[in-house]
Amino acid sequence: MKIVLTGHQGYLGTVMAPLLAARGHEVVGLDTGLFADCFLGPQPQDPTTLAVDLRDVTPQHLAGFDAVIHLAALSNDPIGSLAPQITYDINHAASVRLARAAKAAGVSRFLYASTCSVYGSAGEDLVTEDAPLRPLTPYAESKVRVEADVSALADDSFSPSYLRNATAFGFSPRLRADIVLNNLVGHAVLTGEVKVLSDGTPWRPLVHARDIAAAFIQTLEAPTEAIHDRAFNVGTESNNVTVAEIARAVADTVPGSRLSITGETGSDPRSYRVDFSLIRKILPGYEATWSIPDGAAELYENYTRHGLTQHSFDERFTRLAVLRRRQAEGTLDDAMRPSSP
Ligand SMILES: NC(=O)c1ccc[n+]([C@@H]2O[C@H](COP(=O)([O-])OP(=O)(O)OC[C@H]3O[C@@H](n4cnc5c(N)ncnc54)[C@H](O)[C@@H]3O)[C@@H](O)[C@H]2O)c1
Repeated sequence: MKIVLTGHQGYLGTVMAPLLAARGHEVVGLDTGLFADCFLGPQPQDPTTLAVDLRDVTPQHLAGFDAVIHLAALSNDPIGSLAPQITYDINHAASVRLARAAKAAGVSRFLYASTCSVYGSAGEDLVTEDAPLRPLTPYAESKVRVEADVSALADDSFSPSYLRNATAFGFSPRLRADIVLNNLVGHAVLTGEVKVLSDGTPWRPLVHARDIAAAFIQTLEAPTEAIHDRAFNVGTESNNVTVAEIARAVADTVPGSRLSITGETGSDPRSYRVDFSLIRKILPGYEATWSIPDGAAELYENYTRHGLTQHSFDERFTRLAVLRRRQAEGTLDDAMRPSSP
């Protein structure tokens, strides 16, 4: 298939693009490259790139493609809280415009990267896709709105799917250190300490970046009737873990590291355990196979091999810090558009 992959220069996109190409798909990326220089190890090879802001996409950009995989976003809760209006403009309004442009251009498949954080605070019971959506942040709220607005576009010619990913982990050449497992392994490597500031009790479902990529690829290749206008959780029940359990796995992996759960910030209200049976039904044979100890070991190996430093951990691989630095040096304007200093 001919695919436009938005956000291909991000953490997940950099893992997904070569896996799509290896399956024989023709990939064109679309990204403004906010973090294109933020790689650990050798510079990744990008596919053909449209350096277009999501807010400026027209049907002409998408003509002739079979599918859009839409990852591009301001992609975490702290950024959403720092710039809620821009988060809505990019993550909500521009995503819906992209879907409209895709439909107008005759693109029949639209795969959207949603998140399990749409469930917000859900208690101890496993949440299925039918559970009430209780987004707690502008970031999660924007995901809920896109699912609803894009669903209204679904018809015989346009089949959207909404993949509600658990929190990702694992090595990507364009690393993110601001997601929980990647963060804890990094701290342990750099300081010898696995430090949890909360009380460690919130539930977090996790999934490896490669297992997310596999879910998108299988969705792309599934019969239309299986995925048409459907939301499904992406992950596996065995990776429904508490933050304290994640931290323990890190302490077991990084030699000589000490675990400390300080409880100084209290309990995080975002807590949910997720049921992943639907994805296994919709995509026969799909399994998220990466465990948390395996992911921690992979990260440890890559951090030490590529020489992770405290400065790059804080400044290069933390999304919010990169955006702040680029705004301060004048290479990004207030609306998060690349600009000349
Ligand atoms: N990483 C996770 O844990 C996780 C979990 C659930 C869902 N998701 C979703 O998956 C998607 C990808 O996440 P990620 O971790 O790779 O994020 P990321 O921040 O690493 O990548 C996002 C990419 O989008 C691009 N982008 C942002 N605004 C843009 C704009 N206006 N125009 C064009 N490009 C723009 C950035 O340059 C970047 O390359 C996001 O939609 C995110 O919400 C991620």
